[in-house]
Amino acid sequence: MANQLLITLTLSTLLICSHFTLSKPTTPIEEEDDEEDLSFLEEPELSETSHSTDPDQDFTDFDPFAGDEDDDESFENEDQYEDFEVPEDYDQPEDDNVLTHFDDHDVVVLTEGNFSDVVEGNKYVMVEFYAPWCGHCKVLAPEYAAAATELKVKGEEEEKEKEKVVLAKVDAQEESELAERYEVQGFPTVLWFVDGVHKPYLGPRTKEAIVTWIKKKTGPAVYNVTSVEDAEKILASEDKLVLAYLDSLVGSESEELAAASRLDDDVSFYQTVDAKVAKLFHIDSDVKLPALVLLKKDAEKVSRHDGPFEKSAIKEFVFANKLPLVTTFSKESATMIFESPIKKQVLLFATSKGSTKVIQTFEDAAKLFKGKLIFVYVEMDNEDVGKPVADYFGITGDAAQIIGYTGNDDGKKFVFDKDLTLENLKAFGEGFYSDTLKPFYKSDPIPEDNDGDVKIVVGNNFDDIVLDESKDVLLEIYAPWCGHCQALEPTYSKLAKHLREIDSLVIAKMDGNTNEHPRAKADGYPTILFYPAGNKSSDPITVDVDRTVVAFYKFLKKHASVPFKLQKPTYTDAKESSKIDQKDQKDEL
Ligand SMILES: *[C@@H]1O[C@H](CO)[C@@H](O)[C@H](O)[C@H]1NC(C)=O
Ligand SMILES: *[C@@H]1O[C@H](CO)[C@@H](O)[C@H](O)[C@H]1NC(C)=O
Ligand SMILES: *[C@@H]1O[C@H](CO)[C@@H](O)[C@H](O)[C@H]1NC(C)=O
Repeated sequence: MANQLLITLTLSTLLICSHFTLSKPTTPIEEEDDEEDLSFLEEPELSETSHSTDPDQDFTDFDPFAGDEDDDESFENEDQYEDFEVPEDYDQPEDDNVLTHFDDHDVVVLTEGNFSDVVEGNKYVMVEFYAPWCGHCKVLAPEYAAAATELKVKGEEEEKEKEKVVLAKVDAQEESELAERYEVQGFPTVLWFVDGVHKPYLGPRTKEAIVTWIKKKTGPAVYNVTSVEDAEKILASEDKLVLAYLDSLVGSESEELAAASRLDDDVSFYQTVDAKVAKLFHIDSDVKLPALVLLKKDAEKVSRHDGPFEKSAIKEFVFANKLPLVTTFSKESATMIFESPIKKQVLLFATSKGSTKVIQTFEDAAKLFKGKLIFVYVEMDNEDVGKPVADYFGITGDAAQIIGYTGNDDGKKFVFDKDLTLENLKAFGEGFYSDTLKPFYKSDPIPEDNDGDVKIVVGNNFDDIVLDESKDVLLEIYAPWCGHCQALEPTYSKLAKHLREIDSLVIAKMDGNTNEHPRAKADGYPTILFYPAGNKSSDPITVDVDRTVVAFYKFLKKHASVPFKLQKPTYTDAKESSKIDQKDQKDEL
């Protein structure tokens, strides 16, 4: 999980300067690094002490959300655009959507003193680690409490006292040692313990989803429906379910069904041999057996399985049909969207007052790509969730827009720029699905003049400059407001100036605020990456050396694919060179 957290760019990483240590001890000089006299690289540095490298300017390392711990909270959802609602969440803790009065007496409170007793003394325990300030935790709390109550009632009805499920919570701020022991990195973190062994719960944070998930982990894979009365109860309580109409409640077909059920986390599976029951679930009594349907409460209520009645075919059928045709983006649906094994999302940005024809066309297209692409509707005029997502994708105005997004995989975007007809959307979906579309990168205009020592990289010239196989490329990803980036600037410029004559080396920088490329992932600003010549399809090397000209130079000597040798400059008047240097820097800053 920790790895996943680092993979993609989040708003939080975009907005927060990396807090690298200025005081890092200098790395010992590597022996292999020949006897080269590198002092000349540093000489002009003399002129800089009076310049902008003053460490006191750390305050410019400004974190827009400083003080409200949002950066912690935003780790909770592995870098999804859902993170973008977090700041808003935070500003309005008294959100109308957040229930503040609810009964949570079925949720057990755990502390350091009794955590082990409860987790080891019960077969099944779910534990929520929360923080009092966390907005998402507040949204989850009533859902979690309701799930605890429902599971308790169920447990009592079924008199399975020994397999009782305990829902517990830990205030991670109070119990910081517990939180540390379980490597809690964001809030809420929900863990599922079976006989004391835990794994994360990553499903949607709703009562319904939590209860279904726990039932699947603790109960039988398939439930029998033997009476019309039971059938009616089930239909009233389940949001989505699978029912198989079989010749027998035991045997190979029932076993295939059970095996498929175990491969799925969020749909309850039922079976029946009763024609009257089957009819209630929209299966005709004269149908050929075995028959299987998936029922959903929302649009497109009944899906009928017509493939082979075996485990993997059933699983795929359920998987392709369980999501709504079009999911409206919300806090609750966000996890479902991002935890789905289908990574490619087609997003429709439209206002809720907008044309119903647009939504209809979108839904018609969704039918063609069931199980292949997820279709998501983002309500642009929903201030709480829709708008931040629209902002993230840079969508403005009221006109409906559609983009393809590869989600957590590599964060590529594809813009649909044709007239919104089913035919055009179908072609777009096919291209998106088969990876034949050209991705869209956020980009400043390509600079007309790019002859400086430091080359300017933007989204649209990244391939040409950074991915040029003949060059070793050092790339700084910075943000204009980032203080550490400003402090680095003179050093970086000086390095570039020294290396200007080396044809195989490119020293470049990219404003990460206004440009993007899937091959340039920044964990914060500045991020410095090295792309060796002849090896551009590998991930770049993250440059983590002291931010001095000599350290960068040594790094480049060591890692460059094309060896180079720097001529020591012939000038003797150090003062003279300092002056020139200083002037250049002024021009650049
Ligand atoms: C665990 O200890 C805390 C603090 O003493 C208490 O409030 C809580 O009810 C206890 N939980 C259980 C399950 O005993
Ligand atoms: C369903 O019925 C079959 C046949 O009577 C039985 O073997 C099985 O245990 C039942 N399943 C459940 C979950 O009760
Ligand atoms: C390319 O880069 C990868 C990762 O840095 C490295 O393991 C590999 O040896 C490099 N290949 C060549 C030919 O340099």
